[in-house]
Amino acid sequence: SDLCARGEVRGKRVFIRADLNVPQDDDGRITEDTRIRASVPAIQMALDAGAAVMVTSHLGRPTEGEPRPEDTLAPVAQRLGELLGRPVPLITNWVDGGFSVAPGEVVLLENCRLNKGEKKNSPELAAKLGKLCDIFVHDAFGTAHRAEATTYGIAETAPIACAGPLLAAEMDAISRALENPRRPLVAIVGGSKVSTKLSILKTLAAKVDQLIVGGGIANTFLLAAGKRIGDSLAEPEMVREAQQVMDLMKERGAEVPLPVDVVVADEVSSLARANRVSVDEVGPHDRILDIGPKSAARLAEIIAHAGTIVWNGPLGVFEYDQFAGGTKMLASAIAHSDAFSIAGGGDTLAAIAKFHITDRVGYISTGGGAFLEVLEGKTLPAFEVLQRRAQG
Ligand code: 3PG
Repeated sequence: SDLCARGEVRGKRVFIRADLNVPQDDDGRITEDTRIRASVPAIQMALDAGAAVMVTSHLGRPTEGEPRPEDTLAPVAQRLGELLGRPVPLITNWVDGGFSVAPGEVVLLENCRLNKGEKKNSPELAAKLGKLCDIFVHDAFGTAHRAEATTYGIAETAPIACAGPLLAAEMDAISRALENPRRPLVAIVGGSKVSTKLSILKTLAAKVDQLIVGGGIANTFLLAAGKRIGDSLAEPEMVREAQQVMDLMKERGAEVPLPVDVVVADEVSSLARANRVSVDEVGPHDRILDIGPKSAARLAEIIAHAGTIVWNGPLGVFEYDQFAGGTKMLASAIAHSDAFSIAGGGDTLAAIAKFHITDRVGYISTGGGAFLEVLEGKTLPAFEVLQRRAQG
């Protein structure tokens, strides 16, 4: 993206919506700054072009008009300043203007969800936001599934509205993986619940050549396949849905590969004693907390032949080393594969970091919920409104 090819940017007021919603510890220290780093190219591009740059983001889910200490973007302003190599002043109470930014300068506008009407995208707020700028740049992929005043309303009221480089890159990577993929297309969906990922599983089952399930999701699939899973996390009420997904894949000529061996323990803790057993030997008090090495080797084989890989969700409780083997093997298989790979979601990113494969994944999404909605086949409202404006 070139920050709105239609407009001359020099001297213009450019309003960038970024997703700077980053995790912090109890003392307000940022524990993970990927999203801040990812916001830099758009900001730098606008600064280099001589724009007066305003950036905003939400942080957490505050109550409008009632700021708490943890709602401030102050630590983000600090970190952004370090990354840009210049101070980034934080502006509070900015909705009615009354602050100034010179061309070639950047300010951060305090947590936009503190503004009345942000979440509900009130027309009054959207109208005010539109007046603050000449050009609106949406670069918050992680928030593009929300139709709020700074993600949707302003895209309608600003004189010009367009996608920033991060949003564009995310959408490109997703369409490369899901719309016109090099085949075989392999999806890995892990995590704890079938119920929260059912529409993802169904949507992917209609697209992919192989569907790998992991974690609690795989346990429910094992139940559907008639296996005993002891005390494992699963959703017995979702067994029919799991069966449907398996049937969908079977119709496409690919069985969902279920674990043949698993790692079990009687508790989830760093001290738990882990045992590898065949999937037919799971005892009544066992909890399945990872796949075993045979299963992992089978999955690695599938990954090795993939043309495209889509990954969301770990295969086991990888936070504890004794249950990390499956996810580690998967990470290593992805790292060694020539396939185009795309990964997203909080736990997945933590696994990618833990197993040091960041540089080996084709594209790592900054989206949590937004990434999941794309996998579900949903359109992102904040992206749609930009496309509509581009056409009209
Ligand atoms: C996220 O962290 O997934 C995004 O920043 C969206 O946050 P939200 O779920 O509070 O809208």
